[in-house]
Amino acid sequence: MSEGPVLVLGASGFVGRSVCARLASRGLPLRALTRDPAKARPLAVLPGLEVVAGSPHDDAALAAALDGARAAVNLVGILHESRREPFEKVHVDLPRRLAGACARAGVRRLVHMSALHASRDGPSRYLRTRGLGEEAVREAGGSLRATILRPSVIFGRDDSFLNLFAPLVAALPVVPLAGAATRFQPVWVEDVAGAVAACLDDPATSGRAYDLCGPHVYTLAQIVRFVAAQLGHRRWIVALPGWAAYLQALVLEHLPGPVMTRDNLASMRRDSVCDCPFPAAFGIAPAAMEAIVPAYMAGAGAQGRFAGYRRRTGG
Ligand SMILES: NC(=O)c1ccc[n+]([C@@H]2O[C@H](COP(=O)([O-])OP(=O)(O)OC[C@H]3O[C@@H](n4cnc5c(N)ncnc54)[C@H](OP(=O)(O)O)[C@@H]3O)[C@@H](O)[C@H]2O)c1
Repeated sequence: MSEGPVLVLGASGFVGRSVCARLASRGLPLRALTRDPAKARPLAVLPGLEVVAGSPHDDAALAAALDGARAAVNLVGILHESRREPFEKVHVDLPRRLAGACARAGVRRLVHMSALHASRDGPSRYLRTRGLGEEAVREAGGSLRATILRPSVIFGRDDSFLNLFAPLVAALPVVPLAGAATRFQPVWVEDVAGAVAACLDDPATSGRAYDLCGPHVYTLAQIVRFVAAQLGHRRWIVALPGWAAYLQALVLEHLPGPVMTRDNLASMRRDSVCDCPFPAAFGIAPAAMEAIVPAYMAGAGAQGRFAGYRRRTGG
């Protein structure tokens, strides 16, 4: 690898902040391309990190951000699409354009974050477009050496998963839950960051795709009960039948900043588990939720939750 910076797309996000901190701690110079520099402000404390304002959907901004870079890490992804930002644009066109831009800029190393069970035959538009994005990266060929990472759901202090359920279980004695029996294998954000760093370290990981899962499998109902227990509640969970889950998603997806859509529900038709150990190539023993979450969530009352909300929203 050259001496230039590692370009990180999606650096301002939940995973991006941990990835940047991990790479910076290894002394790597970093460049974060963001559409909103204010969102990237927490990254400013990292030594050797340069924030560049621009959209990765703009070819000129992408080319300028890649200039002199030693590698690129793509952490851009969305759970909910909009008319302006459909899944195809973010999950397929962007990785394809990024791979092409890397080739033109002479950047030979790319780490692309996808999702577990991404496939053109997947049950949801989210998983299908993620699968097509992986294909676009694989097809780039030439001198580009890409590694694809496919995590199950990722947990951590500022995640959008456990933190999604926290206000719900705090407010509701009975929780109506869609996909209650769907199984997940949550993986800690710091283990995902470690995997990204290991990929950049080890050229033998190029040309490969790795599933990233934590050590334990839980149903969604078990995960929600776990969150409730951390907050000192015992909650009754009502598993919604398929038709009621569909209606709930139909209503919720029309709210601003939707927490659930029919496409999310479709993704849950497939268990987010891999029945495989964390890839040995990374030398990481993945952490379980029970080992990490209580340190920041246990006993958090209303004040703690609001502090967490303020931290996540930069307020
Ligand atoms: N979190 C999970 O549980 C999970 C599980 C499986 C896979 N993943 C994948 O891991 C990656 C990182 O996830 P995350 O949880 O860190 O996501 P996140 O917090 O939502 O951050 C995603 C980043 O992508 C950029 N972005 C968002 N929408 C965009 C758009 N329409 N066009 C261009 N850039 C956009 C944003 O950067 P700017 O606003 O600064 O430009 C944002 O910081 C994503 O690819 C995600 O799909 C996450």
